[in-house]
Amino acid sequence: MAEPRRWLAGRLAVVTGASRGIGAATAEAIASAGAHVVLAARDHEALDAVARRVRDAGGEATPAATDVSKVSDVERLFVAAAAAGPPAALVCAAGVLTPAPFTETTSEIWQQTLAVNLTGSFLCCRAAFAAMRTAGEGRIVNIASLSGVYATEKFPGLTAYNVSKYGVIGLTEAVAAEGKAHGISAICISPGAVDTQMLRHANPDLRPGLGPGDVADLIVALLDGPLAPASGANIPLFSNA
Ligand SMILES: NC(=O)c1ccc[n+]([C@@H]2O[C@H](COP(=O)([O-])OP(=O)(O)OC[C@H]3O[C@@H](n4cnc5c(N)ncnc54)[C@H](OP(=O)(O)O)[C@@H]3O)[C@@H](O)[C@H]2O)c1
Repeated sequence: MAEPRRWLAGRLAVVTGASRGIGAATAEAIASAGAHVVLAARDHEALDAVARRVRDAGGEATPAATDVSKVSDVERLFVAAAAAGPPAALVCAAGVLTPAPFTETTSEIWQQTLAVNLTGSFLCCRAAFAAMRTAGEGRIVNIASLSGVYATEKFPGLTAYNVSKYGVIGLTEAVAAEGKAHGISAICISPGAVDTQMLRHANPDLRPGLGPGDVADLIVALLDGPLAPASGANIPLFSNA
């Protein structure tokens, strides 16, 4: 019997944080599922390398150098995406983590962390939502963290990061609530420790239970699956893969 056509096949997906780590793995997995991926992050050389890997594997990718904390960059990203087609999927994986004890959390650390992790996700969701509403369909996956999940143990030194991730979970609920009428679903995933540069810099002693590919595979399964009934949910990833 023929395999059923995947939802992602032939659609356009925007992935932020696509220059490395979870975002890069997710972009490659989404491209393998047949979508054209628009790759957003600041490091254009790293984006070009990811795009080359996607194309070498037979997929389609468009790198778009973007600082997600900047309104004008996000506007440019979605103009570039629109040139390739209506964005049907968005994955917000761009994030920063600058550890600092609470009283040494400078205004710069606080503002930059919220600007990238929370405002960046908001700006991308808002731009994608407008395009998805016109198309009458869309699927969004935001990446928060166990650091943003109520009643999970927190690590010291992560005030700004933790607060930004609580915000991303709330943002996802808000997008889901307004998206329902327009065929737009939004879901949040909140990993524990994943083996990436961010984790290695922030906490070299922590043994990651997940690799970027594990998270990427879950995101593709969510995007390819019947997402609507779960829209607004946050999925904490506690377990080892
Ligand atoms: N690793 C973990 O244990 C873990 C656990 C829970 C949640 N997460 C979350 O998962 C997401 C991906 O993190 P990761 O672990 O893959 O970290 P990573 O390897 O450090 O990757 C972070 C990505 O975000 C991009 N980025 C940073 N600032 C940006 C900006 N201003 N504009 C656009 N892109 C920006 C980086 O690209 P450029 O530097 O090229 O801009 C990079 O592609 C983050 O939201 C993180 O908070 C990670």
